[in-house]
Parts: sequence; structure tokens; C-alpha cells
Amino acid sequence: PLVSLRQLLDHAAENGYGLPAFNVNNLEQVRAIMAAADETKSPVILQASAGARKYAGDAFLRHMIQGAIETYPTIPIVMHLDHGAAPPVCFSAIENGFTSVMMDGSLQADGKSVADYEYNVDVTRTVVESAHAQGVSVEGELGVLGSLETMKGDKEDGHGAEGTMTREQLLTDVDQAADFVAKTQVDALAIAIGTSHGAYKFTKRPTGEVLAISRIKEIHARIPNTHLVMHGSSSVPQELLAEIRQYGGELKETYGVPVEEIQEGIKHGVRKVNIDTDLRLAMTAAIRRVMFVNKGEFDPRKYLSEGIKAMTKVCVARFEAFGTAGQA
Ligand code: G3H
Ligand code: 13P
Ligand code: ZN
Repeated sequence: PLVSLRQLLDHAAENGYGLPAFNVNNLEQVRAIMAAADETKSPVILQASAGARKYAGDAFLRHMIQGAIETYPTIPIVMHLDHGAAPPVCFSAIENGFTSVMMDGSLQADGKSVADYEYNVDVTRTVVESAHAQGVSVEGELGVLGSLETMKGDKEDGHGAEGTMTREQLLTDVDQAADFVAKTQVDALAIAIGTSHGAYKFTKRPTGEVLAISRIKEIHARIPNTHLVMHGSSSVPQELLAEIRQYGGELKETYGVPVEEIQEGIKHGVRKVNIDTDLRLAMTAAIRRVMFVNKGEFDPRKYLSEGIKAMTKVCVARFEAFGTAGQA
């Protein structure tokens, strides 16, 4: 059945596990995630960005997710808007059946520059008031995402500016987080603790801790009833990069967030873990392999089904690692 984000995250908090939130744009991604959820008996968060809504269209997204609900009637599913840039974007998502929305007021509506704190409180509170009246959950974001290795803001998502930032600028402030939640009443809060979007997170293979786990602990201690969200949580599996390169792809050396650090976050209040890049890499690796190995293949189902299998494998691994498996 379709459920709200709040229901799933409350259950996750009571039972001490985390939920991956996978981005979806097409049938193959929805099928891959649902196959993994079915295999591991996991509840599911499917999320669509503005780009996904433009690519697939709201009606196709809604009906694909309806297809998932009909095919797997026992699995709880959330349909979440990822990175809503302004209140009207969130409202149109709600009209189109989303059971949860992210109002990302950490950026201005153009998605390019960092917003004032007061603006963020204002737009987020506006969305919460309306969404809660309709039984829809809201995720807010406070802070500037960026890597603590390169000290650079997250450019792909529009966060931050050119040049380097200080460590404090790249971490969500504890007092401000408490004030933000009190003023907006968000159900979940995305925090900046060293993650960034996309495949290029870290230039060196992580040896020690790459995230600010201590900041997660401090925020969780201050606002224990707020579910924390980690964006930019792809682990960028080296074997997928190797497969892409083996079959003609050209990707630079790069490393993602170690799964162990996400597990550490989950011990301290992280309940929603956003993953998009890892599924993109899995799909790309499988398609490249089939096309390279079988040069006469031209039935898209042949390479797309290998893509589904590769994405399912990643999803199963995350459901198991985050403790989601067995919770549906
Ligand atoms: O936060 C970004 C997600 O990975 C979605 O990416 O905007 O290219 O769909 P997108
Ligand atoms: P990744 O790019 O690390 O997969 O992050 C996705 C994300 O945060 C979507 O909101
Ligand atoms: Zn994100």
C-alpha cells in the first residue's frame, strides 16, 4: 500500500534501522527496486526529482508506482518528491499523488545559490502547514552539502559557491537545526555532514572517517524525535566503475560514502538515506557489458533486463546493510 514517509520513518526509529530512498525515473528502476524489496521483505521509498518528473511525466510516474503497489500489495511504498525547489513545486507534487515532499529551502528557488535561513524557515513552514493538513509528510534541508576532503560545496546540486569553504560552513549547525525543526515542524531533516551529490565525492580511497559522524550524534542528541536524512549517500562501488571502464566507459578515479559510515549514521538517528548514483552506475555497467559482448544485440529488453538485475543487486545490498530487510 501507499503510505506516508512519517509512518515508515517512525517505524524505522522505533526499530533502529534506516531506509534507502532510491531515485526513480523509469520502469526499469521501479522494477529493480521492487524486486529487491520483495526479495528482502523491505518497505520502500521511491523518490522522483524535478528532472524525473520532467523526464517521465507525473502521470507516468504515478501509474508506474500504482503498478508497483498492485504487483506487491503487501509492501509499504512511499512516493516522495526529491528536492522540491519551491512551495508550488511541492503543491503540484501533492496534487499528483506524492505522499511525501522535500521542500529544499537550503537553496534559493533557482537551485543555484544558498538561501537565507529566514527564507528557508518561511518556505518550509508554508509547505508543512499545507502538506500536514493533507496527510503528506515533509522533509526539509538545513546546511550546505559538500565534501570535507576537498572542502568544496556540492556544485552538481547547486549548493555552495566556487572555491573552498570552511569545515563549519559544510556542517549543519546544531542550535540552528533545533530552531529550524521547532519553527517548521518538518518530519525529516536533511543535514550537511560531509556528503555530496553525484559520482565524484572523494578523490582518494577513504582510509579514516569521511563523514562528520560526531555532528550527526550532536544533532540527534538535540532533536531526538526528528528523523535525519543523508543525501549524497551513494557508495560508488569500485567494481561497477571497473566494469564501465572495461567496456569502453571513461570515468575518472572516484570514491563514494563507505557503507559502514552510513551504518554508523543509522545508529545515531539517520533514517532516510538517498541513493541515485549507484543505480545509475549499475545500469550503465550492465548495458555497456551486454552491448560490448553481444554486438549484434538490438532488443532493448536484453540489455535493460541485465540493467534491472544489476540495480536489484545494489538495492538488496543496501536493504540488508541498513537493516531494512525483513521490516515490510
Ligand atoms: O539530488 C539529485 C538526485 O540525484 C536526482 O538527480 O536531478 O538529475 O534527477 P536529477
Ligand atoms: P547520490 O548522488 O549520492 O546517489 O545522492 C542522491 C541524492 O541525494 C538524491 O537526493
Ligand atoms: Zn539529494
